[in-house]
Amino acid sequence: MTDQVIGRQSAHALINFFDDQHPPLGDFMRDVEEGLSATPRSIPPVYFYDQEGSALFDQITELPEYYVTRTELDLLGKISSELSLRAGAGAVVIEPGSGSSVKIRTLLDALGDASGYVGLDISRDHLIAACEDLARDYPDVAIGAVCANFTAGLKLDHLPLPDGRRLIFFPGSTIGNFEPADARAVLAGFRSGMRKGDAVLIGADRVKDEQILVDAYDDAAGVTAAFNLNLLERIRSELGATLNVEDFTHKSIWNTELQRIEMHLVAQRRTEIELNGKVHVFEVGETLHTENSHKFTPTSFQLLAESAGYTVVKHWSDQAELFSLYWLEPNWEA
Ligand SMILES: C[S@@+](CC[C@H](N)C(=O)[O-])C[C@H]1O[C@@H](n2cnc3c(N)ncnc32)[C@H](O)[C@@H]1O
Repeated sequence: MTDQVIGRQSAHALINFFDDQHPPLGDFMRDVEEGLSATPRSIPPVYFYDQEGSALFDQITELPEYYVTRTELDLLGKISSELSLRAGAGAVVIEPGSGSSVKIRTLLDALGDASGYVGLDISRDHLIAACEDLARDYPDVAIGAVCANFTAGLKLDHLPLPDGRRLIFFPGSTIGNFEPADARAVLAGFRSGMRKGDAVLIGADRVKDEQILVDAYDDAAGVTAAFNLNLLERIRSELGATLNVEDFTHKSIWNTELQRIEMHLVAQRRTEIELNGKVHVFEVGETLHTENSHKFTPTSFQLLAESAGYTVVKHWSDQAELFSLYWLEPNWEA
């Protein structure tokens, strides 16, 4: 079921439409209960992004250690004329997991004549505010917002979109947050909203020197630590858990075998999280695994894309080979 508010006289006066697909909210409790009861313990990263988490993530993107955002933005700027040629006139950009809709500005500037933009995010208030800001700055682009979970596929057919080629923009290496089978399912789900001629522009972080990776997820200023620990604050304040946030510290680890950075919350002393009448005991050093960020080589990314039914039409990287952007098109014969 979807709620649509279409037109500039809507409550969100600056955007063309707001489509609320009501991503289920009640799952936070269930996922945390399951995650605390599992061995090893883990919680899905989607719960990082409340108002505070989204604001902390924005700060992370500006940290000196976090090369991801600035490298991807530089790269987008460098390849702008090629992107504009590939997208063609009047493209409609759809961004799953749009967050603060910052990078899209570089892409819209590169394209020059996009006719529409749809920000899609699970974090409703942050999404609307970001799309309204964008609408203020890009009055010639028809801007819409969709509150949805992009892992459920993209439901776009009912939206009042301009006719141009659809370009699904999935930057920030968000794809790396998923286990390989889930990443494949997410990419395959994007295809459900695509028609012949549409494309995906996706950013994927590269395998590189271990220290660069570990530092990018454990900055000296402690912002990533605050981002990770905010999850415990949410569990305490929103789910009514009893816990001591100070008993945990943030840690980032490079897992060579699985080619990923892992973020953990590590118990510094024997401690407990009590949730819904159940007590979960953490011994010293026990961890709660909160995020994976898989890294790719051009070959491993190509294998992933092909397994999800796409052809890699073009691949770009910065000179230091820190980060890559890929232009994918559905392989309609697959
Ligand atoms: C890391 S931010 C990326 C923001 C932006 N695309 C960029 O690269 O700067 C991830 C965003 O994805 C959203 N998100 C995470 N999982 C999601 C899901 N399953 N469905 C919809 N949005 C999701 C979060 O709310 C957050 O705003």
